[in-house]
Amino acid sequence: MNILVTGGAGFIGSHTVVALTEAGFRPVILDDFSNSEQGVLDGLEQIMGSKPIIYAENCHNRETLRRIIREEKIEGVIHFAAFKAVGESMQKPLEYYDNNLGSLIVLLQTMLECGVSNLIFSSSCTVYGEPDILPVTEETPVQPASSVYGNTKQIGEEILCDTVAAGNTLKIISLRYFNPIGAHPSAAIGELPRGVPGNLIPFITQTAAGQRASLTIFGHDYPTPDGTCIRDYIHVLDLAEAHVAALQFLLKKDIDNYYDVFNIGTGEGVSVMQLVKTFEQVSGQALNYKLGPRRSGDVTAVYADVQKSAEQLGWKAKRSVQQALADAWRWQQAIAQKTR
Ligand code: WQD
Repeated sequence: MNILVTGGAGFIGSHTVVALTEAGFRPVILDDFSNSEQGVLDGLEQIMGSKPIIYAENCHNRETLRRIIREEKIEGVIHFAAFKAVGESMQKPLEYYDNNLGSLIVLLQTMLECGVSNLIFSSSCTVYGEPDILPVTEETPVQPASSVYGNTKQIGEEILCDTVAAGNTLKIISLRYFNPIGAHPSAAIGELPRGVPGNLIPFITQTAAGQRASLTIFGHDYPTPDGTCIRDYIHVLDLAEAHVAALQFLLKKDIDNYYDVFNIGTGEGVSVMQLVKTFEQVSGQALNYKLGPRRSGDVTAVYADVQKSAEQLGWKAKRSVQQALADAWRWQQAIAQKTR
């Protein structure tokens, strides 16, 4: 079965292409490479043993989308393509609303026009903001977004819900990701942030590789056991497999017109300091870090209640944080080899 993967050359998208192939699907990547590298395609070929099917185009373009959906006989879509830098989104709100929401609207209109019903949407735990009660369930109230990026995820979910409620044959799932980390164990693909990494794990691995002088831990006076923020770090392959499980759930669902949301995390909260110490154990080397001021916009703690995805999707994360950090470190060393 042919599945369109928009943003399929990105970090989560590329790992999902691997998981789809392993599950017997035929993924078709649509990616404009605005935030991903062509080298990912070589990594995918190394893992999958065949060249990935790729259209290097933008999914905002209706004609392009219509042509690909028809020519490739697409029966389902996984929509990753979006800008995702929280800080940048505050400087460029119109680019973020146009790209993230404009693309989603064009995708939905084209799916309806072409009679494609199944869609998995990449959402984020960022919709929960600073939750009052932990762990967060899918019923936990969505808080007013603290960034334009977060707002595009919230509005995106509302667009999906309203479109399905209007009555049609669309069957859609929004997956609310927690913090994806790690890399494929082959080290053929992984996270490739451009410039200075905003996210914690690539900053840790680049510091350990000597690319960064030291890691700054943003805030150590939070009301948590060790004073640092708590997150739910999930191996990117577990996250990729959750997309396959959600797609298979939709394909089995014999009702048209369906929309729901699922948390995709491990259910475990881990602090920044715990992650740093675990990385030192896994890498066998001390990490150069210092304690710094809080980063604005950070929430103290957020981690998932994962019962609903276990019960309904039959999916649970099965890889440990240790394994994710080991895979991330192996990937960082592999990149260092390539760029020598
Ligand atoms: C994790 C923790 C930082 C870097 C973001 C997006 C979210 C999603 C995942 C897209 C925080 C601390 C980080 C550093 C640090 N992205 N940190 N020093 O902010 O939880 O979530 O990425 O969907 O939408 O908001 O992830 O990795 O940036 O930070 O101390 O150099 O690590 O303060 O507590 P975050 P993160």
